[in-house]
Amino acid sequence: PLYVNSTMRTFIVLPAFKFIKVEKIRDQLLECNKETYWVPDYVKEKRFHNWLEGARDWAVSRSRFWGTPLPVWISQDGEEIVVMDSIEKLERLSGVKVNDLHRHHVDDITIPSSRGPEFGVLKRVEDVFDCWFESGSMPYAYIHYPFENRELFEKNFPGNFVAEGLDQTRGWFYTLMVLSTALFGKPAFKNLICNGLVLAEDGKKMSKSKQNYPSPMEVIDEYGADALRLYLVNSPVVRAESLRFKRIGVFGVVKDVFLPWYNAYRFLVQNAKRLEVEGLTAFSPIDQASLRKSSNVLDHWIHSATESLVSFVHQEMDAYRLYTVVPYLVKYIDNLTNIYVRFNRKRLKGRTGEEDCKISLSTLYHALVTTCVAMAPFTPFFTEVLYQNLRKASSKSEQSIHFCSFPSTTGERDERVERSVTRMMTIIDLARNIRERHSKALKTPLNVWHRTIVA
Ligand SMILES: *[C@@H]1O[C@H](CO)[C@@H](O)[C@H](O)[C@H]1NC(C)=O
Repeated sequence: PLYVNSTMRTFIVLPAFKFIKVEKIRDQLLECNKETYWVPDYVKEKRFHNWLEGARDWAVSRSRFWGTPLPVWISQDGEEIVVMDSIEKLERLSGVKVNDLHRHHVDDITIPSSRGPEFGVLKRVEDVFDCWFESGSMPYAYIHYPFENRELFEKNFPGNFVAEGLDQTRGWFYTLMVLSTALFGKPAFKNLICNGLVLAEDGKKMSKSKQNYPSPMEVIDEYGADALRLYLVNSPVVRAESLRFKRIGVFGVVKDVFLPWYNAYRFLVQNAKRLEVEGLTAFSPIDQASLRKSSNVLDHWIHSATESLVSFVHQEMDAYRLYTVVPYLVKYIDNLTNIYVRFNRKRLKGRTGEEDCKISLSTLYHALVTTCVAMAPFTPFFTEVLYQNLRKASSKSEQSIHFCSFPSTTGERDERVERSVTRMMTIIDLARNIRERHSKALKTPLNVWHRTIVA
């Protein structure tokens, strides 16, 4: 149960006492909407804006038994109306001790008319609140504001972030906005992600009776919760469009993200273990500051690419664009395996000497740890599994990946090296295309004539 703030009273239209005068604050609602940030922005600027422009007075009363009783007491002749804004006030006016605010406890409580005994008593109106009123009261009710936690509330209002489905433009998003505007002249939230609907593969609504969707637990058992999560985070759903849920799409995430990622990790672990097998000192990663002195260009490059990944994730998360993160990560892992590992196989396998081997393994190690830390919010289980093993090699590790701070950007990017590697990869791709056009397998040596074409 909740209470109506005293300011709220002015918005309860009397004597019908069943509406909130939303039309009166319509311009203010539109102003408050401007102060918010939505992903995607068109839902805010079109759909929600239009809805606010046409806002009507809100009928907040419902005839129900279960619900929050409207805290309005009225005299028989309708002349005298008291709105309770606290239990204390109800107790004071009625002389009754109140322990429970459900209908069956408060319906019989009467208060004497202030005009004298001949005017009888005031009784509570029958109705309860429209439950959307309670949804919209979440920012206050959940901490029992204003009766408790005033400071907590003042420090944290408006809330930083809310997320709900597109249908909530007329529901929760709306009632949050109406109540906070009426009470404080502010929106209730600063940032909002509006999500679309997850539909069945056939494009219809998921339906329990039709069973036109795979069981979530089966999907999780088969591919893991992280794969399902990443599939959804990477889908049109996080930009308010609908998604046709496809089991094969979840498998795609396993194949395109987790397997290559795991392979890069396994390659590191195998080669770190090899050091011990060969009777060398156990692998312990060289610290990143010392690694900066490495003269290897690809070491610099992967370090810079990791920095770029971290700053990209920061930037996109700050902008609430979840769906850009996964494609970038996939590309990063692709680069890590197909460029870094592939071009450094000899070093990682120890063919260029113990020292160089340790430098390249340490570089790969830090790239993987940073990637795991940056991705932990999206793939909490998978990154934890990798981290629990990776941390054994480091004395400065945390107990869990979820205790690690989100990596901050050091700004140590080397754009020149990044550009060079991009150029190198472009050339390699072009040459590969030419080989393909001439049906020359990748490993076939070329004679001078072919080399000229490639050049
Ligand atoms: C991957 O490497 C390519 C080629 O060097 C580069 O253009 C791209 O920006 C890199 N992407 C990521 C995410 O590291």
